[in-house]
Parts: sequence; C-alpha cells; structure tokens
Amino acid sequence: MKQATLIMDRDYVIGQVDPRVYGSFIEHLGRAVYGGIYQPGHPTANADGFRKDVIDLVRKLGISVVRYPGGNFVSGFNWEDSIGPVDQRPKKLDLAWFTTETNEVGLHEFDRWAKATDTQVMYAVNLGTRGPDAARNVVEYANHPSGSYWSDLRIRNGAKDPFNIKLWCLGNEMDGPWQMGHRTATEYGRVACEAGKLMKWTDPSIELVACGSSGSDMPTFGSWEYEMLSECYNEIDYVSLHRYYKNPTGDTANFLASTMDLDAFIKAVVSVCDAVGSKKRAKKKLHLSFDEWNVWYHSAEQDQEVWKRGKWNRALPLLEDVYNFEDALLVGAMLITFLNNADRVKIACMAQLVNVIAPIMTNDNGGAWVQTIFYPLMHASRYGRGTALRPIVHSPVYDTKDFEEVPVVSSAATMAEDGSVTLFAVNRDLKEDVELTADLRAFGKMKISEHILLHHDDVHAVNTEADPDQVKPVAGPGGVMDGGHLTVKLPALSWNVIRLTKAE
Ligand code: AHR
Repeated sequence: MKQATLIMDRDYVIGQVDPRVYGSFIEHLGRAVYGGIYQPGHPTANADGFRKDVIDLVRKLGISVVRYPGGNFVSGFNWEDSIGPVDQRPKKLDLAWFTTETNEVGLHEFDRWAKATDTQVMYAVNLGTRGPDAARNVVEYANHPSGSYWSDLRIRNGAKDPFNIKLWCLGNEMDGPWQMGHRTATEYGRVACEAGKLMKWTDPSIELVACGSSGSDMPTFGSWEYEMLSECYNEIDYVSLHRYYKNPTGDTANFLASTMDLDAFIKAVVSVCDAVGSKKRAKKKLHLSFDEWNVWYHSAEQDQEVWKRGKWNRALPLLEDVYNFEDALLVGAMLITFLNNADRVKIACMAQLVNVIAPIMTNDNGGAWVQTIFYPLMHASRYGRGTALRPIVHSPVYDTKDFEEVPVVSSAATMAEDGSVTLFAVNRDLKEDVELTADLRAFGKMKISEHILLHHDDVHAVNTEADPDQVKPVAGPGGVMDGGHLTVKLPALSWNVIRLTKAE
C-alpha cells in the first residue's frame, strides 16, 4: 500500500467558499430544456409544465446558481422572443446547434423553474449578433421595479415583482471562431465595457462576468485576457474560464491528471487579471467564474449522426454523453481544484445540468436518473462549505503523457462554522490503495463522523435508466483517530469524503 501524509491547520486559510462555486448551466440546446426540465404532459409535470422528478434531483444535487440561456445559443438569441404570450412567440432557427427554437420556455418560465429548484439565475446577454442596447433593456425588464417601458411590460406579462437577477454574463466564448459574432479581444473588450456600463447604470447592484478564453488550449489564451481586460477591467467583476476534458485513447492515468492543466489555467488567468489591474493601478481585484466545466467527448460521433438524420428539429438529442466512473473521479478532482483556489474562483458551473453533458438524464417517456458525475458535485455542495483550508500533502507522484510529478492523492479541505472539517480526496492510483495519515492536532479532539466512498472496479462502468445504481456512493472503510492523527485508507481509484466533527 502506498503512503501519503497531510498536515492541516485552521490558520492555513485559502478563502471562504462561495456557494456559487456549486453552480450549473441550462442552455437552449438539445433536450436540456424541452424534454429535460420542461415537459408538459409528463406524469410528473407541475402546473408550469416543469418535470417534478427533475426538480427533485436538482434540489438533491444542491445547485446554487444556474447559467442561462447559453452558451453558444445566446450569441444569436433575441431575449424579447422569449417573453409575452407563449402562442405568439416566434419560432427561430438556432444557428449554434442547427435546431428550431420555439421559445416556449423563456425568461418568466425560467424564473419560475429557478424558484422551484431554489437556485439563482445567472443570465447571459447576447454580445454576438447584438450589443449594449439589447443588454441594458433586458436588465431593465428583469430588474427595474416599475414605471419604465420594459419594467411595465414585465408587469403586464404577469410578473409584478422584478426577477432581481444579480449575476450577468457579457456574452459567451467570444474568442471562438464558432461563435456567432466572434470578435477580436479588443473588439470584445470595447463592447463588453459599453454593455456593462449601461447595464450597471440601469441596475448598480448587478455583477458582471466578461468572457475569458474558451479553454487553455485556445491559441489566443493569455493575450485574449490581457487585451480584453485592458478595455473593460473597471466595468466587470469576474472573468470567465471554460474547460472540458476528454479521454478518447483510454489513458486513465493521464486523464485523471488533467487537473494539473486546470490548476495552471486558473493561476494563469489570475496572473493576467492582476497584471492588468496593476497596470491600471486598480484597487479592485477581479475574481473568476469557471462557468463551463466538465468532461465532454463521449457523444461526439452520435451528434454527427443526429444532424445527419435532420437539422432544424426541435430538441434534437445532442451532447448526450454517458458518463463513466473515471469521469466521476475527474469531476471530483476538478471540484478539489476549485476549492484549492477558493480565494479567486467564486463561481463555477458544471456544464450542463440535464441531458446535455449532464449529471441528470431523462427519458421523454419515462423517468429521470443520475449519472456518475452527479455524486462528487452533490458531496462537494453539501459538505464543502465554509472556509477552504490548504492541506499540505506529501504524496507519491507519477508521470503521464502530458504531465509530470502528478500527486497520486489530490485533496482539499473545508471547515464549517461549527468547527467540523471535511476532507475530500481522490486516489488516482490505478492499482494501489493509499494509506493517508493526516495531522489534525490543530483542531482539538475530532472524530470521524462519516467516510463516503465512490469506487467501482471498472473505470468504464455507467449508470443507465435500466441500471441506475451501477456507480453510487457507499460507506467507506473509515479510519482511526489517534492523538490528533487520522489514518484512513483511500482505495485505488476512489473519491472519498471524510467528515470530521468535534469529539465532545
Ligand atoms: O456547453 C456546451 C457548449 O460548450 C456551450 O454552448 C459553449 O459555450 C461551449 O463551447
């Protein structure tokens, strides 16, 4: 058995965990909205046509904030199409996903769904085919109490109270040539600055997220952030990061090491933000919104087949990745990376939530079930609250095709207000268990209240509607607390949540 040690102290503080780091994303894409969250006529549908089985799973997952309505979709979207009487809303071609958008679900409906799921809306405006005028109008519509054209229209459309959307994305992936209205960094920085200015003049209480790079592998990564922030640093509050990982060659060791790239990506964006801030002599520090992250590759071929069968249908079954056990391990390691950067990463949205690269799946003619990646997010959201502490870990390391000196044990820790501590750990070793010894003397007398374990002997094991419990958490082997030292076994290839509470 391999050995690892860890030391923690209540004073090794990284930062407060912002609950919005447990966010997700619903785009008008595939069966996320139609057949996912919304399906009037389904046996579980509520009066608004939203599936109650899905609402219950979203609540179980513990999502704080949901980014909406895109994604690539938003860059061709007219928000006005999504308000007013449903039967009068236009059907439009969505050039992002080659689908027809019926606009049956729009701003009012989504606000009601967010209330039903106890989540906040993070609303994206179109800075692709549109600009500052449409952006400030939707803020007025959503947030101004009354007495203006757009706020009174909202009231006439049935919402007396403002939606009070606090978090707004200034477009989506504007660095990507696939984006409708793709711009250069300076062009985007200018439009983000002007749109952001008008949006904050309309409602000074809102916060704004500017588009960073669509991935650390973009050729413009770094210069994009620098040039765009040179234009809009003062107007915005967060820079977005997006990152999806894949394992098409079946190299599990390399795949699970992808968080080395994730951590470097976060640190690089922080550096550029601070460089621009210093150059501008800014007092304000920018934070990060990792508003798209996940594993995404399983559905690539299937999507080509779906489009071959016919574009422009409503709710084409796109991006329906079936996640396996190793994907859940990487998702857990990604959450650990966010916690270890809690001082700067304040928002993170698993992309996406239902049916589209999602932890929750539905059958139009049946039920809903959860994929493997559901569990680490649920655990982190439930127990990873309070203060993020920095565990000093001494772990064996390994090398892979793309990474060197990858720690076998990846871990993060949080301390709640009542002094209880949660340790999250992934053992990336393909074969060997690790005995982890943690020095917790700084916390006084503690006891292990729970060890949750996610493990499967087959990294390719999946959950399906017919067999939904192939991969699910179980009680772990636990461990021993002795003189402030915890000893616990982390099985090979496992996600572990070790919850510690005061002994008396
Ligand atoms: O989440 C799926 C897509 O990935 C989003 O629409 C886009 O922003 C990203 O490229």
